[in-house]
Amino acid sequence: MFNVQFLIHMKKTILVTGGLGFIGSHTVVELIQSGYTPVILDDLSNSSLKVLDGIEEITRVRPIFYTKNVLDTLAVEQILKEHNIDAVIHFAAFKAVGESVEKPLEYYHNNVGGLISLLNAMKKTGVQKLVFSSSCTVYGQPEKLPVTENSPVLKAESPYGNTKKMCEEILYDISKTGQDKTISLRYFNPVGAHPSSIIGELPLGIPNNLVPFITQTTAGWREQLTVFGNDYNTPDGTCIRDYIHVVDLALAHVKALEYLDKTDLNYDVFNIGTGKGSTVLEAIKAFEETTSQKLNFKIGNRRAGDIEKVWADCTKANTVLGWQAKFDIKQMMLDAWNWQKRLEK
Ligand code: UFG
Repeated sequence: MFNVQFLIHMKKTILVTGGLGFIGSHTVVELIQSGYTPVILDDLSNSSLKVLDGIEEITRVRPIFYTKNVLDTLAVEQILKEHNIDAVIHFAAFKAVGESVEKPLEYYHNNVGGLISLLNAMKKTGVQKLVFSSSCTVYGQPEKLPVTENSPVLKAESPYGNTKKMCEEILYDISKTGQDKTISLRYFNPVGAHPSSIIGELPLGIPNNLVPFITQTTAGWREQLTVFGNDYNTPDGTCIRDYIHVVDLALAHVKALEYLDKTDLNYDVFNIGTGKGSTVLEAIKAFEETTSQKLNFKIGNRRAGDIEKVWADCTKANTVLGWQAKFDIKQMMLDAWNWQKRLEK
């Protein structure tokens, strides 16, 4: 049985750049399950072809896939034309904050240059709708919490954060020409994995992010997790983040596409989080309780560049996009752990 949404979106073809990455792959699954036809472009620099098998295993659909970098404007143009693309969701980008400090030029070239290349290809082929992967990093340490879309965008803490800020500015300027329609989704902290455990996060080497470090430590891949500082101005002294389940985040992209078809605005921005902050210790407790595992961790020094606390006001996404996060932190941890167990196999 097809549901109504499926019939509405049937046959609309969406180019998903970075579609084999963590958020990209989950979004591809939700697009297929909502009746869209995704076409994936990914250069495999931080992903694996096995993810395509995973998408097929979950959805019974194997999307068309191109091993291409978004900087290859001509290739993107050809794909846009050949598949009569209706809209683009642009994930393809480098995302490691620390690495961006070491390699700023690579980050600007790939992330900002990549967006410009894509926009040129879209302009050439008349594709006008875009959903852009942005980040709550643009808010820095906000003075008022929770942050709304009107909270000030602060000077970026890292070249990575600056690429997100610059890309948003580029999109805003271009929107003023009145031709394109773009939505920037400002993600808070995406975690978890598909509940089937067939796709999830695949960090290369030692993970920088909290949740893969928790699951890998519990699985014995890492010896111990260090909690970066417990002397912050928060209830238990550890940093607060708004963790969001990657499937909820993926669904926000489907809602963003629907909104692009209805809105008269040329540019809009949405916070995508749960609206609930958790400290690092609360996240660890949620993991231990839901998985019945004991995590080996210690308290260490603060990590340079960490924001003390940030969580989202998602009222705008709730009311305008009709989107709401459904999964709580326990479900995020359970799905992340089940995915880790699958990786073991
Ligand atoms: N943390 C630890 N130990 C670890 C790893 C993380 O205590 O081994 C803590 C961090 O100090 C922080 C929290 O867990 O308080 C979350 O850290 P992550 O590295 O998982 O996430 P960040 O909030 O630092 O970074 C995320 C995204 C970035 C994005 C940034 C915006 O990974 O892409 O949010 O704030 F830029």
